[in-house]
Amino acid sequence: MFQNGQVPHDKLHLHLEQEYATVIRDFPVLLGRVYIQCPKPEVRAELAENIYEEETGGLVAGAPHPVLFLDFPRGLGMDLGRFEEIVLLPAAARYRAHIDQGTLHSDWEIGAALTTLFIEGNRFERALFDKKVPARPVLSAEEHPLVKHYGLPQDCLRLTQAHGEVEGEHRQAAWRILLDHIDSSCYHRVLGAMDEALEQWLAYRQEVAQACGLEKQVDPSP
Ligand SMILES: [Fe+2]
Ligand SMILES: [Fe+2]
Repeated sequence: MFQNGQVPHDKLHLHLEQEYATVIRDFPVLLGRVYIQCPKPEVRAELAENIYEEETGGLVAGAPHPVLFLDFPRGLGMDLGRFEEIVLLPAAARYRAHIDQGTLHSDWEIGAALTTLFIEGNRFERALFDKKVPARPVLSAEEHPLVKHYGLPQDCLRLTQAHGEVEGEHRQAAWRILLDHIDSSCYHRVLGAMDEALEQWLAYRQEVAQACGLEKQVDPSP
C-alpha cells in the first residue's frame, strides 16, 4: 500500500499502527498458541524455533521481531506512544478475531496454516516449488519503499534484514509442516480458514487504505 509512496506521509502511521496491532505485536504468541495445541513433536520443534527467533531474535535478528518493527515508526519520527494504545479499526478487528479463532479455538492445522503461511508467508510462495515462477525480488536498502518514499534511515531496516536472513528457513519450515504433517482430510477445513482470512484481510487493507485517504487499495501485497 505504501510501496508506491501513495500514502500521504502524515497518514502512514495509521497503516503501521494497524499492522502492528493486528498481527505483528503478538505474532510470537500466535505461534505459541499453535505450539500448545499441536500433538506432533516434529511440528512443535519447527514452531519452537520460529517462536524463539520471533520472540527473542536469538538466532538472527538480535532483538524481538515486534520490537524491531517499531524501528519503522521511530525512524520516521512518529509518536511511539500511539503504538501502546492502538484501537483496531472495525475490519482490522474482524481480521484479528478470525486469527484469534483460528489459533485459539480451532484445530492446530488451521492455526499453523494461518500463522506460518497466511501471516508469515508472501505472494511469492509458489517459487519455492516451481523454478519457473518469479521469486520474491531482493530489494537493496535504498529500494525499500519506506526508505525510498518516506526517508526512513537505512539503519532502521533491521527487521527487514533479519527476515532476509531467517525467513527463507521459516518458509521452508511452514511448508514442511503443511505438506508432511497435515493429513489431507484436513485440507478442506484449512483452505476454508485461509479463504476466510484472505477475505477479512482484504477488507482490513481496504479500510486502512481509505483511512489513509486512498480511494482504493493500490497494491494488495503485504
Ligand atoms: Fe518467523
Ligand atoms: Fe519475523
